[in-house]
Amino acid sequence: MRTFGNRFEDRTVVVTGAASGFGEAMAKRFAAEGATVLATDVNADALDRVVTEIADAGGHAVAKRVDVSRPDDVAAMVADAVGLAGRLDVLVNNAGFSHLSGPVWELEEAEFDRVFATNVKGVWLGVKYAVPQMIERGGGVIVNTASIGAVAPRPGVTVYNSTKGAVMTMTRGLAVELARYRIRVNALNPVAADTGFMRGALGVDTLPEENRAALIRGIPLRRLTEPADVAAAAAFLASDEAEFLTGVCLPVDGGRSIS
Ligand SMILES: NC(=O)c1ccc[n+]([C@@H]2O[C@H](COP(=O)([O-])OP(=O)(O)OC[C@H]3O[C@@H](n4cnc5c(N)ncnc54)[C@H](O)[C@@H]3O)[C@@H](O)[C@H]2O)c1
Repeated sequence: MRTFGNRFEDRTVVVTGAASGFGEAMAKRFAAEGATVLATDVNADALDRVVTEIADAGGHAVAKRVDVSRPDDVAAMVADAVGLAGRLDVLVNNAGFSHLSGPVWELEEAEFDRVFATNVKGVWLGVKYAVPQMIERGGGVIVNTASIGAVAPRPGVTVYNSTKGAVMTMTRGLAVELARYRIRVNALNPVAADTGFMRGALGVDTLPEENRAALIRGIPLRRLTEPADVAAAAAFLASDEAEFLTGVCLPVDGGRSIS
């Protein structure tokens, strides 16, 4: 396992959406830095692979099937996390997806509800159940995965981008509300990455070359986001090195939001 330091030694970290993409990279990064990780996702098979790979690399992670839009699942997730070592230090609300890109008036109501249930209600449920535990032990850190699409939206995924706007506002509101309990709340705003996300947004397993080239043209650093970029940013925001940072929505976007 590559060594990054031990910033999360003796800490328990929960990552949602950990079976793929950014969440997988974050779970692996926190484990590599010494955390006990509760890796959660709706995709139990892929989650088992991630946890096995973490164990093979010498890390400590436990898998749990959790649908973040279901209150009982999220309550059980927090209880399990506390059960691992008696505390919950870091919650990463990362699970999310996009509806298929297309005209906003063609989106089905059920799809609108489904994407808000995971991307927005899922974050709130994580907060609802994790915060009392964090208050009880004197503090904690929450990191939410938003999107640069909330700041600089492009056509076709307006409802998805709106969910991420809600995540940004929740992040900033929570930062103010929870500071008195020594709970920091920050968000990550990645630009496009060729992850499982593209299956939802574009209906493809891998980005077609013309889409990739068009996306890269809009990014000053001339590449897409890699999951490792997001993992590094999440680990920093969750670490003690970021102890004075709260309410930050950090672009992980190669400069896309300022170009
Ligand atoms: N890939 C991108 O272009 C991009 C850009 C900006 C933000 N994001 C955001 O990053 C986060 C991670 O996405 P990714 O790119 O790694 O995609 P991904 O599809 O590779 O990973 C997302 C994971 O979330 C899980 N998931 C979906 N709904 C869930 C639910 N209700 N409960 C629990 N788990 C659920 C999926 O099974 C999947 O394993 C998402 O919130 C996404 O909106 C992605």
